[in-house]
Amino acid sequence: METLLLDSNTWLLVLTGAGVSAESGVPTFRGMNGLWEDQPVEQVASPEGFAKDPLRVWRFYSQRRAGAAGVSPNPGHDALVAWERHLGDRFLLATQNVDGLHSRAGSQRVVEMHGNLFKTRCSNDECKRAPFEDTTVYAEGTVPGCKDCGSLLRPHIVWFGEYLDPTDLERIQDFSLRAASSGGRFVFLAAGTSGAVYPAAGMVDQVRGAGGETWLVNLDPAENSRRFQHSVQGKSGEVLPKLGRLV
Ligand code: APR
Repeated sequence: METLLLDSNTWLLVLTGAGVSAESGVPTFRGMNGLWEDQPVEQVASPEGFAKDPLRVWRFYSQRRAGAAGVSPNPGHDALVAWERHLGDRFLLATQNVDGLHSRAGSQRVVEMHGNLFKTRCSNDECKRAPFEDTTVYAEGTVPGCKDCGSLLRPHIVWFGEYLDPTDLERIQDFSLRAASSGGRFVFLAAGTSGAVYPAAGMVDQVRGAGGETWLVNLDPAENSRRFQHSVQGKSGEVLPKLGRLV
C-alpha cells in the first residue's frame, strides 16, 4: 500500500464523509439507500420537508441523536487526531458528518460543514437566539418551540437545498490559500465520502487547481474518484492508521 508522508513541509486538508463513521456503527446515507422510512432522505432533510411535517423531521433527528450518542470513535478518527498533533496548524479537517465523532475523538481543528446533530436553533431567521447545544431525544410527537419567539426549533444541520455557513467555507478557503502559498507541499485527502454532494465534492478540483496533491480513501469507488491522483480502496478505520508516515 502507498504511504502518505507527513513531514514538516506538509500542509494537509482532510475531508471526511459518512464512511468514516461507518465502522463506529453510524449508517451511511448510501447504506440506507438514501431512504428513511421508505422516503428519500432529501425529502426529510430539507426546508420543504420541515415545513410539511416538522414532527417527522424531529423523529428522524431524534432517532439519529439516540443512535450517535451510543457509538464511539474508531481507529480512523484516531489516526486523524494523531496526524493533527503532528502537523499542528498545517492541518485542517473539514467534515460532512454531523455526529460529532471527530471532536469526541480529540480532533481540534474541525470545520463541521453540514452542522452538528447535537445542536438546535430557532427556525425563524429573524430570531436572535443563537444555536445551542442540545442532546435531547425528543419524545415521539414532539416539536420543540423557541422560548424567545415561540417559533419551531429545528436541528442545526445544513439541509439539502441550503447554503453552507460562509464562515466555514472561508476557513477552508483561507487554509487552502495559506497552504498553496507556503512554498511547502499541499495535500488534500478525502475519506469515506461518495463525492456526490457539493460543494464538498468539488474540493478535489479546487485543490488540484491550486497545485495540491490529492488522495482518496474509500470503500467503494466514489463518484469523483477519477479526479484524485492517489486512491486507496478500503475501510478508513483500517487504511488511515497505516497510511500516514509521520516524519
Ligand atoms: N471506510 C471508508 N469508506 C466507507 C466505509 C468505510 N468503512 N463505509 C462506507 N464507505 C464509503 C461508501 O463507499 C460511500 O462512498 O463512504 C461513502 C459514504 O457515502 P454517503 O453515504 O453518500 O456519505 P457522504 O458522502 O458523507 O454524504 C454527503 O450527503 O446525506 C447527505 O448531508 C449528508 O453529509 C452528507 C452528504
